[in-house]
Amino acid sequence: MKHEDQSPEAHPADTEWMSNNSEGWTVTVEKQEGATSLAEALHALITEDPDQGMRMGWLHSSLQRAAGGEPGYVRLYELHVSPEFRQRGVARDLVDELFARVPDQEIILSAWDRDPYGVWLKPGFSYVPGPDEMSGSRSSPGDMVRPPVEAAS
Ligand SMILES: CC(C)(COP(=O)(O)OP(=O)(O)OC[C@H]1O[C@@H](n2cnc3c(N)ncnc32)[C@H](O)[C@@H]1OP(=O)(O)O)[C@@H](O)C(=O)NCCC(=O)NCCS
Repeated sequence: MKHEDQSPEAHPADTEWMSNNSEGWTVTVEKQEGATSLAEALHALITEDPDQGMRMGWLHSSLQRAAGGEPGYVRLYELHVSPEFRQRGVARDLVDELFARVPDQEIILSAWDRDPYGVWLKPGFSYVPGPDEMSGSRSSPGDMVRPPVEAAS
């Protein structure tokens, strides 16, 4: 896939690379204990270098259904860019692509890392503090959220 084009769906042949380019997550084709899978993905996207076709980064999201008629949300489970391709907008493009695919749904980061805080705020996530969190503190568990931007048709 070309970097400037739409990200393509990950294929079974990509899972080994995804597992080797993660923060310890194992990616499988079928649902498996202790792994994240293409089968459970709402989106599994891979960005490739347009010149050499090398995989540069990937994103995995899943749909969290809510009980009792409450609205569900999209859980962004993993976003990873290979070290040699960082700081070139690869993550930004993947997040933008996710946002564009589900404009009518809330997106919540799963187990997000506090360190690259700006990565999330720049494309449009907002930090929603936890109920007991002091204003301005990032030490307690809050959520990184992209609210729905348009109603479902
Ligand atoms: C975090 C990560 C996905 C960023 O990927 P990337 O392709 O380098 O990010 P981008 O180049 O698209 O940068 C997007 C924005 O975030 C900023 N940014 C990137 N890395 C950052 C960091 N470590 N700290 C703060 N800001 C950062 C960039 O400056 C850029 O801002 P800009 O739009 O104003 O220029 C990548 O460093 C990574 O894979 N890290 C290890 C895995 C990880 O931490 N994943 C996130 C938790 S699930």
